[in-house]
Amino acid sequence: LKEEALAKAEQAETLSELQEIRVAYLGKKGPITEVLRGMGKLSKEERPVIGELANRVRESIADVLDTKKETLEAKQLEAKLEKETIDVTLPGRPVNVGGPHLLTSIVEEIEDLFIGMGFEVREGPEVETDYFNFEALNLPKGHPARDMQDSFYITEELLMRTHTSPVQARTMGKYDGKKPVKMICPGKVYRRDTDDATHSHQFTQVEGLYVDKNVQMSDLKGVLNRFAKQMFGEEREIRLRPSFFPFTEPSVEMDISCKVCNGEGCSVCKGTGWIEILGGGMVHPRVLEMAGYDPKEYTGFAFGMGPERIAMLKYGVDDIRHFYTNDIRFLKQYHKA
Ligand code: PHE
Repeated sequence: LKEEALAKAEQAETLSELQEIRVAYLGKKGPITEVLRGMGKLSKEERPVIGELANRVRESIADVLDTKKETLEAKQLEAKLEKETIDVTLPGRPVNVGGPHLLTSIVEEIEDLFIGMGFEVREGPEVETDYFNFEALNLPKGHPARDMQDSFYITEELLMRTHTSPVQARTMGKYDGKKPVKMICPGKVYRRDTDDATHSHQFTQVEGLYVDKNVQMSDLKGVLNRFAKQMFGEEREIRLRPSFFPFTEPSVEMDISCKVCNGEGCSVCKGTGWIEILGGGMVHPRVLEMAGYDPKEYTGFAFGMGPERIAMLKYGVDDIRHFYTNDIRFLKQYHKA
């Protein structure tokens, strides 16, 4: 009986098999219990002998079962650990990291350049009143120059702003006609244009305004020259051409040279070698007056530029629609590492 039990215990491969053997041999209905129960029928002499024998058999079976149980448990733990190991040398799964949109980066770059020249950054509403979008900028109702900026009207008095210039009027208005103003205002603007490679019904502008005593055209030229060189490279030059805006007098358009010289010589881009990048001028005395400044005491300059155009020139983007269609292949090219 002992040999049989021990052999079975040796062969057991799982803990549940082992438990079955334990029940079969040592359990209440097992052979050893039966022997011990039958003790009463034995003679006085036989009882201690058989009793001791049965106990010894029971103990040795229990011993073997216990040892076997320990080995099986150890094996099971080992298998479990093996299954759960993590290979720490495996490369991780790539995580897709986003980055700022090219337009966001360009606007921030423009902001940084002007902050460096002492300008504050301001914002204004995209839904604007007819007064600030046009009237306060010397564009009364019925003025033909309103046609230059085809507008999305919401009501007769409210429209989507067609440029960032209303923020000039708003900011000057807050300064009570007494303090100097030196600000830029980036933001979205809207025009009723048909979208194509160079037009979009919604685009971005950065407005600039500097009002103080004795601000002159040369100040405008100096600031814009610094801006152009820092944005496009020190080898670039600027030129101002006469133009017209109802809110500036005189008005200019600024071109930058696209003649780029290096050690190997100069190359001129197609056309005249100049590209227009912004409009500006000296703030019209009427505009200063409407905002509460005395034009005999204060003068100012203003300018407005399109960051899309700046980005297109700087990075050779050939279609303005790339900025808004959000093709990840386009956007990723401009993510800084
Ligand atoms: N607001 C003008 C435009 O959108 C640009 C501009 C701004 C011109 C400031 C002069 C002064 O075309």
